[in-house]
Amino acid sequence: MRKKLERKLASEPLNFESFFSEKALQMKASEIRELLKLVETSDIISLAGGLPAPETFPVELIRKITEDVLTNHADKALQYGTTKGFTPLRLALARWMEKRYGIPMSKVEIMMVAGSQQALDLIGRVFINPGDVVVVEAPTYLAALQAFSYYDPEFVSVPMDHDGMRIDVLGEKLEELERKGKRVKLLYTVSTFQNPMGVTMSLERRKKLIELAREYEFIIVEDNPYSELRYSGEPIPPIKHFDDEGRVIYLGTFSKILAPGLRLGWISAHPHFIRKMEIAKQSIDLCTNTLGQAIAWKYVEDGHLDKHIPEIIEFYKPRRDAMLKALEEFMPEGVEWTRPDGGMFVWVTLPGGIDSKLMLEKAVSKGVAYVPGEAFFAHREVKNTLRLNFTYVPEEKIREGIKRLAEVIEEEIRSRA
Ligand SMILES: Cc1ncc(COP(=O)(O)O)c(C=O)c1O
Repeated sequence: MRKKLERKLASEPLNFESFFSEKALQMKASEIRELLKLVETSDIISLAGGLPAPETFPVELIRKITEDVLTNHADKALQYGTTKGFTPLRLALARWMEKRYGIPMSKVEIMMVAGSQQALDLIGRVFINPGDVVVVEAPTYLAALQAFSYYDPEFVSVPMDHDGMRIDVLGEKLEELERKGKRVKLLYTVSTFQNPMGVTMSLERRKKLIELAREYEFIIVEDNPYSELRYSGEPIPPIKHFDDEGRVIYLGTFSKILAPGLRLGWISAHPHFIRKMEIAKQSIDLCTNTLGQAIAWKYVEDGHLDKHIPEIIEFYKPRRDAMLKALEEFMPEGVEWTRPDGGMFVWVTLPGGIDSKLMLEKAVSKGVAYVPGEAFFAHREVKNTLRLNFTYVPEEKIREGIKRLAEVIEEEIRSRA
């Protein structure tokens, strides 16, 4: 037996693939991500990433808070915690959300997670049966599509415009689905400064969406990592603010208002929903990183969050302005883009017929990178869009990057003429 094994080892390599589950075999790395990996290591100006600027991380403050936590609360901060999370932090967040967004503490429960990305997976586990209809924005956050896809839903896409999801089209689609005897289970929206478009769902549409959810009996997942990064315009309350039934599952995160490396986010939802997600989470991680939670607790409780947000805004606003100015200055006719009041992204639409995925290699050879828009669509039906990030790269580089990109697009338009 052993001899046979040795012979086998010597003659042929292990058949690694044969060990994977069906689900794992379906997983594929995106070819774009592979290309963009090269970009991050060279001197190409990358407008592709989705990273906060490290200059916005309050390093000294985190150092001080950590020292305080380790001096005074090490017993809890270094111990296992409950699956739902560190209670003082959950309370501090509930108070903050009540004050900031008018979401009554008494109506929700908060569970801490390892970034809102974990919440998306938990939602998939707890709510999605194979074939369930999940409504998403077109385009939407790519990694939400990936997280939900694992649970085999049927995605229904609703187009977007400058005021967010087209609620009129949603209404038509809901009617059509009902006629076919199909029930929508869940709708996912990044309501404010959306990733990837940067647009915000208007107040009117938020209210209408809640009405439709009531009429057609589905739940709303409101993913809101960006609303605090507002550089212009007036704040709009989250959809959760208008929810008096527990129909909206709200996702928050410290990734853009403190530091993504802490891997800390939260779900604010009806206790009934939280309970099931808590059970689902028990077997995944037992509990969320307790040291990180203790740090975040002091950050919120002692008022640092409210003080730090304006500093982040002050840092990003000139970058947003630089990108919009450069687009205005350099982009050829026929190219359109969004003008976000906040967040991290601008969405560009090229003249029809230009495939931004095919164009990427040319852009990279000219020294600029972006994310082609196709992957942000559940059905990959749109080819002529791309996403630009303005938070990571300094203003001069943004300007130079947009100039290079405009040249590539111009060549593309010319070669088609
Ligand atoms: C819309 C959206 N949701 C969720 C996430 C994941 O964030 P976290 O770092 O909290 O997991 C991101 C990250 O970029 C995002 O853009």
